[in-house]
Amino acid sequence: MWSGFPLFPEQASTHAGRVDALYFFLIALTAFFSLLIGFMVIGFAIRYRRRSPDDRPPAIYGSLALELTWTIIPLGIVAVIFFWSADVYLSLNRVPKDAIEVHVVGKRWMWKVQHITGQREINELHVPVGVPVKLTLTSEDVIHSFFIPAFRVKKDALPARYTTAWFQATKPGRYHLFCAEYCGTRHSNMIGSIVVMEPAAFQAWLAGGGPGVSLASAGEKLFQDLACVTCHKADSGARGPALDGLFGRPVALADGGTVTADETYIRESIVAPSAKVVAGYQPIMPTFQGLVSEEQLLQLVAYVRSLKAKAPAAGAPPAPPVAAAPGARP
Ligand code: CUA
Repeated sequence: MWSGFPLFPEQASTHAGRVDALYFFLIALTAFFSLLIGFMVIGFAIRYRRRSPDDRPPAIYGSLALELTWTIIPLGIVAVIFFWSADVYLSLNRVPKDAIEVHVVGKRWMWKVQHITGQREINELHVPVGVPVKLTLTSEDVIHSFFIPAFRVKKDALPARYTTAWFQATKPGRYHLFCAEYCGTRHSNMIGSIVVMEPAAFQAWLAGGGPGVSLASAGEKLFQDLACVTCHKADSGARGPALDGLFGRPVALADGGTVTADETYIRESIVAPSAKVVAGYQPIMPTFQGLVSEEQLLQLVAYVRSLKAKAPAAGAPPAPPVAAAPGARP
């Protein structure tokens, strides 16, 4: 409805309408009370003005009804705001299970994107319309923020950490991508496009990059090249823990604590292996800080993740429906 209004981005995701409804409710509420209070200030100033030098107002001893009214009404209003915004917040943060995955690395001053099938892009992200897309974000240097106004999606990309966001585009087209966190001289140039395509066109685009190497396969190759495999084998004894079925499981640590083996933990274990040592193992693993890029770390994480549902032969991840394009994987 606001697409003709120049300062208002169009609504192009399933989040957009919900975020806007809450936004307009808050604007309307604020406008209503600003006007109400403004008119009352003026009206009371006129009505209760001092009419002569010896004008004395009657003494006031309070009113329970009034106190209750101005307590209960605001309480009701803020309760509505709380539950409504909590609902919107949760829907923005609960990623649907069938979402296709995209990995994003921010660096000064560009966005580097890797699809789970291996395709890579810079300052562009191609996605299919009508399919949920999960973003896993990180940064190589400072804090950036991945902002797609038309989708009402904005998520910080933090160094040494993974954050997630998701969206489902509702119409094909090309939409602005901005960095929304001041990150240095060329922050304002850290822009790009989200290209939303019909599913068939998206499949053609995926296949157009040639038979790419999937993220997990690239990770598997790194795992061999970096010689991770020498210690992290099922039969490697006490040198390093085996990684099969690790992802998503709780891990007992040498210091008695427990940690869930998520993306951030696996990344940390590669760049700072002595930070969280698995119970029963010695801190003998060298750090790979500086030896592997953030993109390669994402590949290694994807590989470790793929070991979860390991089929007898392949190490490839269970492909989400849309990503399983013929020719998109080796
Ligand atoms: Cu990256 Cu601003």
